[in-house]
Amino acid sequence: MTPSTRTTRQWQDADAAHFLHPFTNFQALAKKGSRIITRAEGIYLWDSEGHKILDAMSGLWCVNVGYGQQALIDAAARQMKELPFYNAFFQTATPPAIELAELLAEVSPPQFKHVFFAGSGSEGNDTVVRMVRRYWDILGQPERQVIISRHNAYHGSTMAGASLGGMSGMHAQGGLPIPGIEHINQPYWVENGHGLGRDEFGLVAARWLEEKIRIIGPEKVAAFIGEPVQGAGGVIIPPATYWPEIQRICDKYGILLVSDEVICGFGRTGRWFGCETFGMKPDLMTFAKGVTSGYVPLGGVMVGERVARVLIDQGGEFEHGYTYSGHPVACAVGLANLRLIRELGLVERVHDDVGPCLAEAFASLREHPLVGDAEACGLMGALLLVRDKASLAPFPHQVGIGMVCRGHCFANGLIMRAVGNRMIIAPPLVITRTQIDEMTTLIRRCLDLTLADVQREGWR
Ligand SMILES: Cc1ncc(COP(=O)(O)O)c(C=O)c1O
Repeated sequence: MTPSTRTTRQWQDADAAHFLHPFTNFQALAKKGSRIITRAEGIYLWDSEGHKILDAMSGLWCVNVGYGQQALIDAAARQMKELPFYNAFFQTATPPAIELAELLAEVSPPQFKHVFFAGSGSEGNDTVVRMVRRYWDILGQPERQVIISRHNAYHGSTMAGASLGGMSGMHAQGGLPIPGIEHINQPYWVENGHGLGRDEFGLVAARWLEEKIRIIGPEKVAAFIGEPVQGAGGVIIPPATYWPEIQRICDKYGILLVSDEVICGFGRTGRWFGCETFGMKPDLMTFAKGVTSGYVPLGGVMVGERVARVLIDQGGEFEHGYTYSGHPVACAVGLANLRLIRELGLVERVHDDVGPCLAEAFASLREHPLVGDAEACGLMGALLLVRDKASLAPFPHQVGIGMVCRGHCFANGLIMRAVGNRMIIAPPLVITRTQIDEMTTLIRRCLDLTLADVQREGWR
């Protein structure tokens, strides 16, 4: 059935009757009714009521090339006709998977020549856990099992992904984390800086890793994993000193470094991968989302030579894989997407043009009475909403200030996400300067409406 054949109400009723949404209070949503999104073009979405919405979240951090790109649509259609599916298990491969592996190696930092395909970021991180442990097994150090991550990290929602992640709400359901995963605190200066300068704090936060390694025993630690910028945790941009110090510590103890590039990859930070922006040299990189701009599901792990050589030369069979590892349609779309990113020069554009423009726009929002801090990195940004600008004192949790602001965004044709008291964005990389102005005007309007609520309700 096409969207126009049902009313919004009919869609909502059928949705509530059958569709269990991710990360959703099912009962509350059923009462309220979902917003039904029916089409998209460029950086805009339309809902079933005909409202136009500026999608400042790129779907879910994925639609890097924007909606409606004909090259991706054609690539999918062509591949579906030619060969819609074949697996890569039984000593077989398909041309799109081979070509995408080749192109991924080309755009990745030089230590990466191999890729293991998965269907999503979560599956990519499950692969990381199995691969890292297998690596140490092959090297005769099977006691190296522990993977260290950070509180408030997001690495997916499978058992391993949710365990690697540091979301307390997720750990509270279903006996997580699984054994062998440990967490240190995040490099979030506003909460953990305690009066230190940002750069000094970056070093302190990185050294929490060294403390943890010493507590566990270096001979038991397999790897450290982190997102260059924590996305779902609220666009937490670490101080510039953080990642180089993490790299030094991993090198010192011979621990593998894993960069989860599911959000930061494919131009988001102004380089092809976030690790390049932050000056680290990971052994493994998880990717998903932007690899196909979200048009079809695809994820995987870029495997650096340190790990690949051991797996290939000494490992025998690696007992791991997915039906959709190297799915030909997904890989054909991935290829078209990466070629388009290159053709449009999107990575350079984020670095030299729209990234700095967004940084300027966010700097101007710092003057708003509700905004305590405004940060941007490439095309991702966060506004910290505070009760008191001078002390950065937060609103009481029960006010739900982020959700109040998000409500205004929804009502005013803007998709912006709330993470606690942080309002975050990650618009498509094709956004223009004029559209950044339009987005900033909308954000300012929603902040004003939120401030009016604060004043009316006496929240400060
Ligand atoms: C950094 C990071 N890693 C992994 C994932 C999980 O990816 P997926 O939802 O495709 O399983 C996400 C999803 O948002 C993510 O942001």
